[in-house]
Amino acid sequence: MLYRAPRGTADILPQKQAHWRHVEQVAVSLCQGYGYQRLDCPVFEDTGLFTRSVGEDTDIVAKEMYTFADKGGNSLTLRPEGTAPVCRAYLEHGMPNLPQPVKLYYLAAIYRYERPQAGRLREHHQFGYEAIGDADPAIDAEVIDMAWQFFASLKLSRLSLQLNSIGCKKCRPAYLAVLKDYYAGYTDNICPECKIRLKRNPLRLLDCKKSSCLQIASQAPRSIDHLCPECGGHFNQLKEYLGLLQIPFAVNHRLVRGLDYYTRTVFEIQPEGGSAQSTIGGGGRYDDLIEELGGKPTPALGFAAGMERIILNLKQQKIPIPPLPQPRVFITYTGEELKKEALKLAASLRKSGVSAIEATGSRSLKAQLRQANSLGIPCAVIVGEEELKKGTVILRDMTTATQKPVPISKLPKILG
Ligand code: HAM
Repeated sequence: MLYRAPRGTADILPQKQAHWRHVEQVAVSLCQGYGYQRLDCPVFEDTGLFTRSVGEDTDIVAKEMYTFADKGGNSLTLRPEGTAPVCRAYLEHGMPNLPQPVKLYYLAAIYRYERPQAGRLREHHQFGYEAIGDADPAIDAEVIDMAWQFFASLKLSRLSLQLNSIGCKKCRPAYLAVLKDYYAGYTDNICPECKIRLKRNPLRLLDCKKSSCLQIASQAPRSIDHLCPECGGHFNQLKEYLGLLQIPFAVNHRLVRGLDYYTRTVFEIQPEGGSAQSTIGGGGRYDDLIEELGGKPTPALGFAAGMERIILNLKQQKIPIPPLPQPRVFITYTGEELKKEALKLAASLRKSGVSAIEATGSRSLKAQLRQANSLGIPCAVIVGEEELKKGTVILRDMTTATQKPVPISKLPKILG
């Protein structure tokens, strides 16, 4: 073998497809139920879209982007997240002129040059959705409710919803000053990366996973104590609405998220007992992003969950998944001269809406039936010389191994 899939990528093999299709189908019907429309954006975008929106000092932009120059000399980047492309498309296609909020969802491959491990890939897939053009905390509650109902529809349990508010551009600078003051007393105790964060992106200090930093972060000033009255009011209303919707949540003062565009509400859904690295989905408000990308000030928020992590949790929790549709019938023949009849019969069954596959080659009938069995196909049709003269074939139930002659003309009805 000369090649393997690149490190941090995974083939989605046929035996994994039932999980993938199930999660996608639950996601799509959820979006229909909440009035979200699908949007597919290109896999790559102008690099500037991400540096500008996600933020130069985030891990994603600083370390993880797959950036390349195309033959025309343009700097392009494989999308490292799905929100900025949606906002770009919202502006590019005149969606500010539509009734607001505009509600969009996506299922998309995402690229981040990370250190691969269980549930962390360099190519992963997200189901995400964005509600653009509404500042009401009721829409925050709806977006969070939708995430919560998504996992409930998947029958995932033992999840916790972590919530925080990180303020807006009006109140955050004062909070960051207080935070920096606090950390100034610990410069010798924090990790080298946090020393850089202290200078460049102090909010991310709260997010450090190193045990020494965790302890310092746990005593740090809390953003919710430094919110302006508008942000404070927004957060209180959101908590009230979540209460009304009976969605349990925990306020987590250290939750800041890894992308710089967030304002006010941030939230994550984590498996109970899991670490922040096992976060199954996260999102929040980004009220300045559309303006940052050249639009008018437009409040917005959204959520995204990683497909691979969802499937990991479905497997860990041993949740049964509906099987994928299978061909209904396998057409076999008793001698090679009947192969043409089998081929014709399979084609005519498919035309009448019965999914069918036919045996090929010159295997014995026994071997053909073994093949039907190993494919898990529930019925087999045996095309035999004598039966054919009478316009019949033998229909075999593969589970009970019982068989009976049936008129060919009645097959579509019997199998339909
Ligand atoms: P994010 O938290 O970076 O947010 O990613 C969302 C989810 O994608 C994570 O919670 C995780 O389940 C999954 N994920 C992230 N990185 C990886 C990886 N390397 N391997 C496997 N799964 C991963 C965003 O991307 C935001 N755009 C979410 C958002 C939407 N905010 C507002 N709207």
